[in-house]
Amino acid sequence: MHAPRRSTLQRLSALALLLAAGRLRSTEAALPRLPAWRPRFDHDPFTLGVASGQPRPDSVLLWTRLAPHPHQPGGGMPPVPVRLRWELADDDGFRRIVRHGEVLAHPDAGHSVRVPVQGLAPGRVYHYRFLLDAAVSPVGRTRTAPAPDALPDRLRLALASCQHYEQGRFIAHREIAASDIDLVLFVGDYIYDSSNPAFLLRAHEGPPPRTLDEYRARHATYKLDADLQAAHAAHPWLVCWDDHEVRNDYAGMLGGEDEDTRDFVAIRQAAYQAYFEHLPLALDQLPGPAGMRMHDRWTWGRLAEIWTLDGRQHRSAQVGADADAPGGGLIGQRLVDQAERAERDAPRRSVLGDAQERWLQSGLAASQRRWKLVAQASQMSPSGIDLMGRRLVSSDGWDGYPGARARLLSGIAERRIDNVVMLGGDVHRHVVANLRVQPNDPRSPVVASELVTTSVTTRGLPAPLNDLIRESNTDILHARSDDRGYARIELGHRWLHFVARATSFPARDQATLSSQVRFTIETGRAGPQQDGSEEPAAPA
Ligand SMILES: [Fe+2]
Repeated sequence: MHAPRRSTLQRLSALALLLAAGRLRSTEAALPRLPAWRPRFDHDPFTLGVASGQPRPDSVLLWTRLAPHPHQPGGGMPPVPVRLRWELADDDGFRRIVRHGEVLAHPDAGHSVRVPVQGLAPGRVYHYRFLLDAAVSPVGRTRTAPAPDALPDRLRLALASCQHYEQGRFIAHREIAASDIDLVLFVGDYIYDSSNPAFLLRAHEGPPPRTLDEYRARHATYKLDADLQAAHAAHPWLVCWDDHEVRNDYAGMLGGEDEDTRDFVAIRQAAYQAYFEHLPLALDQLPGPAGMRMHDRWTWGRLAEIWTLDGRQHRSAQVGADADAPGGGLIGQRLVDQAERAERDAPRRSVLGDAQERWLQSGLAASQRRWKLVAQASQMSPSGIDLMGRRLVSSDGWDGYPGARARLLSGIAERRIDNVVMLGGDVHRHVVANLRVQPNDPRSPVVASELVTTSVTTRGLPAPLNDLIRESNTDILHARSDDRGYARIELGHRWLHFVARATSFPARDQATLSSQVRFTIETGRAGPQQDGSEEPAAPA
């Protein structure tokens, strides 16, 4: 690559810093005055594909990252800013370009770029691409949300989570990419920090990441997957994160498992930075030393409001965790029976943190949209097991925070907020459940519905343990842990359809998904109803 003249470089850097600081919102307005710099690449710089996300009625966010050698430090890019072009068009042949501009890929952001394209028409499909010298990125397809006062007939989305690269092929993403849906909602474990040698279909590029370069390489491993790239290129995504984007079972500033707490702060920051660089996230989400904003709210006309929550960064430590002990001391997924006692000792224990919890409660109460979809990383309905006279629960899930769960569901019940549907992942099983203020208590009314997607690839619980969970929790209407896949959700004015799409176990290189289960939720009636029995999957 040719190096630019020093003065050009300085001007580019200054602009990049302004952009990074959020002081310049419009790259279109700022950049065309700069002198041209035309780098030459010996490899395709668009190896990681393109993505879009955060659809609003008048805007959408476009993403790519320049990485001609994605597993090298800096993606194989020289440590200088590079300017590239982007185009957004009505058609995939780019004959009717409706917006275009230039954007800086800065080495401080791993040469990732995000373009918030504004002033667009609501409820429209667009196509986009990036251009750099002779290189042209793959073409992405995206859409804007409907106008705030429109009442669209439907919203179709794919709900997915938990895509351990080593444990299977991303067959679910292959189907998602080919599906006629409006958006993808990914609710956590986008990458995995760790490996399980017992399930190794294909290998990560190295040991668990600790540095920014290592997290960038880990994200590159995932982004190089053709099926994942296709799902990003086909639809706009909304994302929540969970623990494995950083470390298993971490809570706030407390590292999970064997991680030293002081080291963990730096590890978390590197992980957040790499996550920001690889997902279609807004510039004002740029992580700093204090963390990164992940929670947000989205609308689909008057049909639906979607909350995307952050259940990791602001949560209280799990029961049994010792904040003072080097190594964090989290007990994570160990089954415990002391969650209720911990709540009595510390009644404000929280999954979301006070500020996010209040924001969600007031937003739900104020919402005028028909459906209120609350997307977060885990299963909210009870999933403990009754064994030899004891109730054992996972300390990391909502069962480990019963007070926080009761606060959220009580708020929904007391304010009579209707048509609330919790959407989750994390547990590596499809789950359909009723949500009550008092879990599993038939005298406590059903106040909301829950739909949880299984994992794209990550191994689920053995069937006998899954059966024990079902038998121990009357609120669970359906749970299957031997399926890999995703869920399709379609919302209309009077109903919501949930389809659990599944591969057979194990998720090897299969071309099609194998079975599905359907549930329906009617407006004004909390609680899902099963829609026929399990059936072989029809083509997508
Ligand atoms: Fe997971």
